[in-house]
Amino acid sequence: MPRIPFKYGQIVKGSNFTNRKKEIALLRDHFTSLTSSIVISPRRWGKSSLVKRAAEVAMRKDKKLKVCFLDLYKVRTEEEFYELLANEVLKATTGRVFEIGKNIKKFFSQFIPKVTFSPVKDTEFTIGLNWQEVKKKPDEILNLPEKIAQQQKIKLVVCLDEFQNIGFFKDSISFQKKLRANWQNHNHAAYCMYGSKRHMMLEVFTKQSMPFYQFGSLIFLDKISNKDWTRYIMKQFQATNKKISPEDAQYIPALMENHPYYVQQLAHLCWLNSEEFCDRKIITKAHDQLLMQLSLLFQNLTDTLSNKQVNLLLSIINDEPELSSSQTIKRYSLGTSATVNRSKNALIDKEILDQFSGKLEFVDPAYKAWLKQHYFKV
Ligand SMILES: Nc1ncnc2c1ncn2[C@@H]1O[C@H](COP(=O)(O)OP(=O)(O)OP(=O)(O)O)[C@@H](O)[C@H]1O
Ligand SMILES: [Mg+2]
Repeated sequence: MPRIPFKYGQIVKGSNFTNRKKEIALLRDHFTSLTSSIVISPRRWGKSSLVKRAAEVAMRKDKKLKVCFLDLYKVRTEEEFYELLANEVLKATTGRVFEIGKNIKKFFSQFIPKVTFSPVKDTEFTIGLNWQEVKKKPDEILNLPEKIAQQQKIKLVVCLDEFQNIGFFKDSISFQKKLRANWQNHNHAAYCMYGSKRHMMLEVFTKQSMPFYQFGSLIFLDKISNKDWTRYIMKQFQATNKKISPEDAQYIPALMENHPYYVQQLAHLCWLNSEEFCDRKIITKAHDQLLMQLSLLFQNLTDTLSNKQVNLLLSIINDEPELSSSQTIKRYSLGTSATVNRSKNALIDKEILDQFSGKLEFVDPAYKAWLKQHYFKV
């Protein structure tokens, strides 16, 4: 057990990872059967941690399976994408660094990339591509996973984190067409794409006119349940010789609407503030502390919104059942029903609101709490 039992802001593993048994089993089976999958959730619900964990479990079960990870977080162009793909796939499948030259000769036929060895670490190399060559023959890179897996008699899963970023590429649709056209023929490699920006991911994978329509099995990640969080929090307190009652432990995720990142953050603050026992008073204080830490950020965010958008947020906080009814529009000065729609779409675009099965919800439960307790003081 690490000295500090709660963790947030990074991929969680080991004792900091909790639950997700069903999702792990499902992804593990997709990986070992080379079924491509798409994991979608709002920000910070645990996609990256889940896929890493599932990959470990799958590789333990199936020794022929290798999984490599591409983080598209900073990738903004097609060129960067190919370079990252070539690097990660070759790194994951080249056992010893000195074999890279041999592998490149084996796997490339159209052009030869440049290999640079790290001057500090003799276990590292970097692949450099000539964009003019790649532009003419992108298939050479796109088919690398299949070619390598076939020749090495392995199964290869390529995981693409922050996949929604390909939407920023110039001419994104034709790029997506290229990926799909090549990847759908792969029998020894599969793909797992995941990302936030739900509506963008949904558009890429569920719109009939889009190249990736029905490319793989869609998984919508849920939050972790209050019951599971309660158990986890109690366990983490116990393991570090501090105590919290079940009633208080469940209050932490309840305050954060079971949002994984924030539950860990609030639990962390509660744990720091408790000498031996954690009680309601400590939790309330920690929650205030957390909102205060975020206050400047939330104030700045609110400053970018129009009055009508802010008013719409208030009507949602107050759980108004009919946002476009003339009564609600009048009470909150929302303009007209067309303005309500515009405000709603603008707030979704800004990732402040999201629509889950028809219902509008705040993406960030701390922002909602801050608006409620500090901004509107309702
Ligand atoms: N299974 C889990 N058990 C415990 N905590 C979790 C779990 N999943 C996520 N968390 C908490 O949520 C945080 C965010 O997790 P992670 O980075 O995996 O999410 P993400 O959906 O990939 O986020 P982003 O949208 O920012 O990429 C973690 O740092 C951790 O605090
Ligand atoms: Mg992530």
